Amino acid sequence: MIELTDITKAYYVKRDKSKARVVLDDISMKIDDNEFVCFIGPSGCGKTTVLNLIAGFEKPTLGKIYCNGKEITGPSPERGVVFQEYSLLPWLSAKSNVKLALEAQNIPEKEQDEMAMELLKTVRMDKYADMRPNTLSGGMKQRVAIARMLALDPEIMLMDEPFSALDADTRSMLDSEIVELWQKKHRTVVFVTHIIEEAIQIASRIVLFSDSPGKIVREWNIDIEHPRDLESPEMMQIKKEISAALTEISSGQEI
Ligand SMILES: Nc1ncnc2c1ncn2[C@@H]1O[C@H](COP(=O)(O)OP(=O)(O)OP(=O)(O)O)[C@@H](O)[C@H]1O
Ligand SMILES: [Mg+2]
Repeated sequence: MIELTDITKAYYVKRDKSKARVVLDDISMKIDDNEFVCFIGPSGCGKTTVLNLIAGFEKPTLGKIYCNGKEITGPSPERGVVFQEYSLLPWLSAKSNVKLALEAQNIPEKEQDEMAMELLKTVRMDKYADMRPNTLSGGMKQRVAIARMLALDPEIMLMDEPFSALDADTRSMLDSEIVELWQKKHRTVVFVTHIIEEAIQIASRIVLFSDSPGKIVREWNIDIEHPRDLESPEMMQIKKEISAALTEISSGQEI
């Protein structure tokens, strides 16, 4: 379980170190094991910042974050991350990128090859194991990035708009694959997106943030089986509510 208690995050203003800008204001939230939580909210509201805090890349200015009762003080293999931008090493093949994560886990070298191939198979990339990132499509690169995250065997998968640069069809295919993985492996997923349709298709809970400074304004629990029919009355209703709430935030109204 992840627990954020009274988290405030401020960054110093570069030109004037005596001033700080609050980007997250007193956020508290619990994420249970096996939840699939989507963060949604306007650009700049702090979604990536929350993810970075959970990943341990950033430290809160005030408040504490716990993972399974232990305070998060830095990154750990129990929390794997996939970013929006392709973060593969360009000079290494798909397989070598995955092997690097296995090496970091101190997996013996003679086991790395087979394990990397198994992981690439999970994301249907075993056929492209020897190709370098610049010869792969955007969707293929993100699949390799997912395989690399899975190499850590993380309990918690943190994903920051991983498919937002991809076309709608590829995105939707990868969304189903992530849901499948989540169901099969019983992991916890925290997934940032700005696409409402994506959030309602994949999430078991949607958390809506408002901006300047970021605050949680509303949540939706979606207890509907996968794959979901976005045209069903229930899904249309949730979509309408989220769109309306986002419009209100953008127009500066209180919800
Ligand atoms: N290292 C940093 N130093 C200073 N300000 C930062 C830093 N990182 C983020 N910010 C600021 O914090 C705010 C929240 O940023 P964040 O990236 O978390 O937003 P976001 O919700 O992920 O936005 P987007 O949807 O555009 O990705 C922004 O105003 C941003 O300028
Ligand atoms: Mg972001």
